[in-house]
Amino acid sequence: RVPVPALLQRPADAIARPQQASHAKIPLPCDLFAPERRNSRGIEFGERAALEPLLTDIRDETFELKPVTDATPDQVNAAVSAARAGFAAWSRTPAASRAASLEQAAHLLESRRAHFMALLQREGGKTLDDALSEVREAADFCRYYAAQGRKLFGSETAMPGPTGESNALGLRGRGVFVAISPWNFPLAIFLGQVTAALMAGNCVVAKPAEQTPCIAVEAVRLLHEAGIPADVLRLVTGDGRTGAVLIAHPDIAGVVFTGSTEVARAINRTLAAKDGPIVPLIAETGGINAMIADATALPEQVADDVVTSAFRSAGQRCSALRLLFVQEDVADRMIEMIAGAARELRIGDARDVATHVGPVIDEEAKQRLDAHIARMKKEAELHFAGTAPEGCFVAPHIFELRDAGQLTQEVFGPILHVVRYPAERLGQALAAIDRTGYGLTLGIHSRIDDTVEAIIDRVQVGNIYVNRNMIGAVVGVQPFGGNGLSGTGPKAGGPHYLARFATEQTVTINT
Ligand code: SER
Repeated sequence: RVPVPALLQRPADAIARPQQASHAKIPLPCDLFAPERRNSRGIEFGERAALEPLLTDIRDETFELKPVTDATPDQVNAAVSAARAGFAAWSRTPAASRAASLEQAAHLLESRRAHFMALLQREGGKTLDDALSEVREAADFCRYYAAQGRKLFGSETAMPGPTGESNALGLRGRGVFVAISPWNFPLAIFLGQVTAALMAGNCVVAKPAEQTPCIAVEAVRLLHEAGIPADVLRLVTGDGRTGAVLIAHPDIAGVVFTGSTEVARAINRTLAAKDGPIVPLIAETGGINAMIADATALPEQVADDVVTSAFRSAGQRCSALRLLFVQEDVADRMIEMIAGAARELRIGDARDVATHVGPVIDEEAKQRLDAHIARMKKEAELHFAGTAPEGCFVAPHIFELRDAGQLTQEVFGPILHVVRYPAERLGQALAAIDRTGYGLTLGIHSRIDDTVEAIIDRVQVGNIYVNRNMIGAVVGVQPFGGNGLSGTGPKAGGPHYLARFATEQTVTINT
């Protein structure tokens, strides 16, 4: 009943992280997963010590990461045809029943959290805390979209009838939605996209990142087990070539994509060039995310929040801090404190509870980051370089730039760039943020309300965090998504998201 792809051909080594040869099953005690603690934030660095004694219970879980084939064009076409055939029945399935399947999926996820955490560690190279917060976030998406969907799709909205007619507005699925997801949140973003599209009454063909297909296979199995019919959700695996075949298919009705700006543009071009219906794209891409710390900010808090925002998850979050603007008067002290906090980070095997910074996703990513570090060593001032073990690791680095314009591209790793600004030139710092063209996250550290308000007014950024770190948006609490080069604007985990996957229908009855 479950149409997962043939698990053959690609050698297992190619998808296992080199340093993740085996992994541990970590049966964390129930209190960490109690509903009142459930959210997407995971464990803060400071909470790690509390985990230590619990880990005496670690035991090995025995599963194999199986090789995954790339789908052929015929398999892609077959997946779209099957999903299309399933649409009529699924779009008529009551919203409450679609929601119940998502709630069951959340329940199954939590009951198998150790398995999913182990998969996230093994295939995604995730640290223990990142794996834990990702399982929580995935379950949060299922429950949040189920709750939103019951409200939005459960009944029609009565409209005024000034002429004596009755008018009602309803939301309906569009058809077959394509969901293309990234490797950095291979469970949470994968499930977030898929469950939103399903809840809105669409069938889905999902293509996960080629680096993390096994997590997607398991997530699809789980959704099928939770009650999503097999022809309503199909999975195709492969790299960008598989994605391109999928996007070009004449029968797709919408695309949700998270990944690079460059790929989002390519998808947009393909969709625009097709004959037939106009196909909407929901894209969430990257950012050259900035933080501004002025002289009134609390230096200890800035240091902590900068280290969390720039280096946690090895900097492999689209929300991560890349460009820190520090007011000149306090810059030396702040940079010293940030470097001091970065020095405390432990870099290494993601399965070790003491690890703060795990591996980067693959050798290609490491080479790209190493090349950027080599370039920065020539063009900028190095303030801090951590040490990383052999393998797919990149140590945290802090560079000071002469000018923010030296950073022209998103650098997806644990590398922080700092720029000093004189107090009277805050406006120029903000203009530099504008010039990046991105608009995903922004951090502000200041105790002056007028400054904070002026910055918020001035920038066009999707998620702004004041006097705290700038990662880990919580589902249903901090709707997440950016503008400009960072995406088309819809906010995952927010109250308006599901409507973006639907069409609206007005029915007027002359009574
Ligand atoms: N949603 C994640 C965060 O907020 C990034 O993708 O960190």
